[in-house]
Amino acid sequence: MSDSPAVQVSGLTKRYESGETSVDALKGIDLTIERGDFVAVMGPSGSGKSTLMHILGALETYSEGSVAIDGKEIGGMNEEELTLLRRDSIGFIFQFFNLLPTMTAEENVMLPSMVAGEKTSALKPRSAELLELVGLSDRAKHLPSQLSGGEQQRVSVARSLMRNPALLLADEPTGNLDSKNGAAVLDMLRDVQQKAGHTIMMVTHDAVAASRAGRVVFLRDGLIAGEVAGGDSNRIIEFFAGLEQAA
Ligand SMILES: Nc1ncnc2c1ncn2[C@@H]1O[C@H](COP(=O)(O)OP(=O)(O)OP(=O)(O)O)[C@@H](O)[C@H]1O
Ligand SMILES: [Mg+2]
Repeated sequence: MSDSPAVQVSGLTKRYESGETSVDALKGIDLTIERGDFVAVMGPSGSGKSTLMHILGALETYSEGSVAIDGKEIGGMNEEELTLLRRDSIGFIFQFFNLLPTMTAEENVMLPSMVAGEKTSALKPRSAELLELVGLSDRAKHLPSQLSGGEQQRVSVARSLMRNPALLLADEPTGNLDSKNGAAVLDMLRDVQQKAGHTIMMVTHDAVAASRAGRVVFLRDGLIAGEVAGGDSNRIIEFFAGLEQAA
């Protein structure tokens, strides 16, 4: 189903239960992300942003509702199908880069396909192409410890694209970078969206980062509280301030 949205969520709820206590982290989310969209998700701490992202990445189960990634319902999938979905359809970019310290930049980029059982020699051209895309061709043989934070995050952007995923999920990708390196990573994400047509969902606390997305979706208390277009960080800051006052 090549014309299905990248993400289609309806009536999504998530209840965390532990012993006597339970937390309703998501209370009924409806969200469609079309292919090629770049969506930023903002919201106060505890509003459910990471929970939503982890469910979309098949890293966390959900309680009710339906979730389809790239036209495939994940509700009925078994563990093996979920593993394949994570491996082949979703790219992850984390706040703390999560590169393997003993592998070079090039090997880190190839890793998702190495895990899938492909031969390293066959992966080199794709890896080289991705390192070039993120401006790190001359760092291919460097270990993460020999790279700056911004460079490490660019390697993890390249890695997330290795298998050409239907959906890129980024949880605070600029949270550990200074503003210059953060801006470089955001430029890169914009590029992979606009030039390569990738679909991106990014959680961020930073209105300037969010303004680089096409859509900014706000969560509050497990529900979608509104949406504004990207582009104007002042409008985003205003909307966010309104949310926190109403809370
Ligand atoms: N594993 C868990 N067990 C129980 N409750 C959880 C668990 N993970 C999250 N929660 C609760 O679910 C709610 C939503 O958490 P979540 O991590 O999604 O928030 P968030 O919007 O990402 O916040 P932050 O901006 O602080 O990262 C919170 O009330 C949190 O305490
Ligand atoms: Mg979070």
